[in-house]
Amino acid sequence: MNTRPFGLLAELTYRCPLRCLYCSNPVRYPQGHAELNTDEWTHVFRQAADLGVLHALLSGGEPLQRKDIEMLIEAAHDAGLYTNLITSGVGLTLSRAKRLKKAGLDSVQISFQADEPALALSIAGTNAFRSKLLAVQAVQEINLPLTINVVIHRFNIHRIPQIIEFAVNLKAKRLELANTQYYGWAFKNRRALLPSAQQIEDAAKAVAEARKTYKNRIEILYVLSDYHSLRPKPCMNGWGRRYLCVNPIGDVLPCPTAYEIPNLTFDSVRERSLQWIWEHSEAFNRFRGTEWMQEPCSSCPYKEIDFGGCRCQAALLTGDPSVTDPVCVLSPHHPLLERQLQESRQSLLPQDEMKNIISYRTYS
Ligand code: SF4
Ligand code: FES
Repeated sequence: MNTRPFGLLAELTYRCPLRCLYCSNPVRYPQGHAELNTDEWTHVFRQAADLGVLHALLSGGEPLQRKDIEMLIEAAHDAGLYTNLITSGVGLTLSRAKRLKKAGLDSVQISFQADEPALALSIAGTNAFRSKLLAVQAVQEINLPLTINVVIHRFNIHRIPQIIEFAVNLKAKRLELANTQYYGWAFKNRRALLPSAQQIEDAAKAVAEARKTYKNRIEILYVLSDYHSLRPKPCMNGWGRRYLCVNPIGDVLPCPTAYEIPNLTFDSVRERSLQWIWEHSEAFNRFRGTEWMQEPCSSCPYKEIDFGGCRCQAALLTGDPSVTDPVCVLSPHHPLLERQLQESRQSLLPQDEMKNIISYRTYS
């Protein structure tokens, strides 16, 4: 086997003080298992580096909920990995930020839900706005590269100009505006979260305008939702090709959302080496390469470019993870996605009525 992973997503915990409507924690995962401890994670980072991994995204849930976060960052750094902390910012005080930098932290991404506290509270379900501002200040004070990330959906898409201005005022060098991708809790809440066609159009214009206005002051990365594209993305850069994800209980997944796929068996770092899992586990081999593809992917010239799109999306939308991602216009299931989009647009509800169709995360 020639491929080597270069990225590790280390989901250190699913605990989080926020409960965003689009939470990326899995909707279902095996209960009753303890989180990996410091030694277990240290072993994971060393094995990952030996496998060829170059960078570790330390995320969650909220990774700062781990009391041993400094030790975990030190372990990843000592293993030779570039470390990026993906955080809500809650709990990132100046003294903690200094300790994390000393431990070897290389860069930080802080998420905001909106540019104003009231809207942010209604999206995150927790009042975290001030803590986030303090976290931004702390990261700037210790001079680490900082990205501000805002997940975009129907409740905040109209504020894109203000969100960009907010990030500029925070002196952020990089802003990531990522339209919600519909997996997990976001999939459950998609009828509430999907923006209208007009909103999508207005947002693209607002971003283009802001890029001119703030040229050289901030880099704005704008990521469209798959649902609003005509060709799928090469999800995870191809299944089992470049990335692996170790979740809080030690299961190793080709993609953080892979619990969505029925009948897939995952191996744990508590029972197998990372190298064995990468090379031999059923989960990594099921959709690796192109052999598993059905038509239209199997004879398509794009199959080595987008790898048939996203397996989780295919599973969620059709029940079959091995079909062409329905996002693709060539997929026989594409009309299903079109129908869903149309239905959600027709069912635009006032915001207070939206609350009745929203599901909140039910575990802590
Ligand atoms: Fe990609 Fe498959 Fe669509 Fe071709 S048919 S563009 S390989 S998803
Ligand atoms: Fe799992 Fe795309 S989100 S393969």
